Amino acid sequence: MIIKAFAKINLTLDITGILPGGYHALRSVMAPVSLCDEITLEKSDKTEFFCNVESISTPDNLCVRAANAFLQKANITGGVVIKLQKNIPFPAGLGGGSSDAAAVLRGMNELYGNPLTNGDLFALASSLGSDIPFCLLGKPALCEGRGEILTPLKDVPIFTVVIAIGDGRLPTPEVFKKYDSMNLPVRNDTDNFISALGNGIKEDIVASMGNAFTSVAEVLAPETKTLRDEMLSCGALASHLSGSGPSVYGIFKNQDQGIKAAEALKAKGYSAYVCETLN
Ligand code: C5P
Repeated sequence: MIIKAFAKINLTLDITGILPGGYHALRSVMAPVSLCDEITLEKSDKTEFFCNVESISTPDNLCVRAANAFLQKANITGGVVIKLQKNIPFPAGLGGGSSDAAAVLRGMNELYGNPLTNGDLFALASSLGSDIPFCLLGKPALCEGRGEILTPLKDVPIFTVVIAIGDGRLPTPEVFKKYDSMNLPVRNDTDNFISALGNGIKEDIVASMGNAFTSVAEVLAPETKTLRDEMLSCGALASHLSGSGPSVYGIFKNQDQGIKAAEALKAKGYSAYVCETLN
């Protein structure tokens, strides 16, 4: 079985408080994009994991943890051979690892004749990571709580997206910690975005995208600001950090403009990918 595991971008990201346990309460509209990893799953009597990127070919990879969690919950003594072709840059704020884990859960359930309900799969996803339930859903959604409370959003338009990333690193826990120390005003991008969706005016939807981590990322990785400015000077209608970064996305009018922008960004030494939001 071959499955695609799609990256995500955060069209909005607000932080509304701290949850019991120390996690942050989020309100974020996420959308899957066509940039994807490819996963091959084969039933086997033991679990093995292979990946084209050596640094993540480890037994604690989220794919292996997802496979083991599935097998345990479904009371299956067999295993699975997982081959991961990694195309989504990481760590980047693009949910690549989360999407791989979600694809393993969904794929293994199918491979083993659907022993688990959708509810079981979402509970497993939530126990493995905050973004994994969204990846399991695979559609634009408002993500609240830790990220696991999902409201699907039907009206998110298909956008041409360029995703770019430099060499900097932004570990997620560090970004949350820095956010806490900066005492920033609470943003309300998400409510504005959802109102704009309701009105169906594309310009307003694009104008209300945003990310509460923007200024945090600019302190920890100033390159994210440069990259957003580069996107805008290449004609992006909007450009924001995805998740906790360091990847940045730009929304473009059409694919031609996206391709030109990606070429210009690559010529400046960035990795750049043209894709589109999925709905
Ligand atoms: O859930 P996940 O493993 O993806 O989270 C990684 C880290 O990001 C957590 O350890 C935590 O520091 C931070 N986080 C948070 N609040 C969230 C999601 C993640 O503080 N809602």
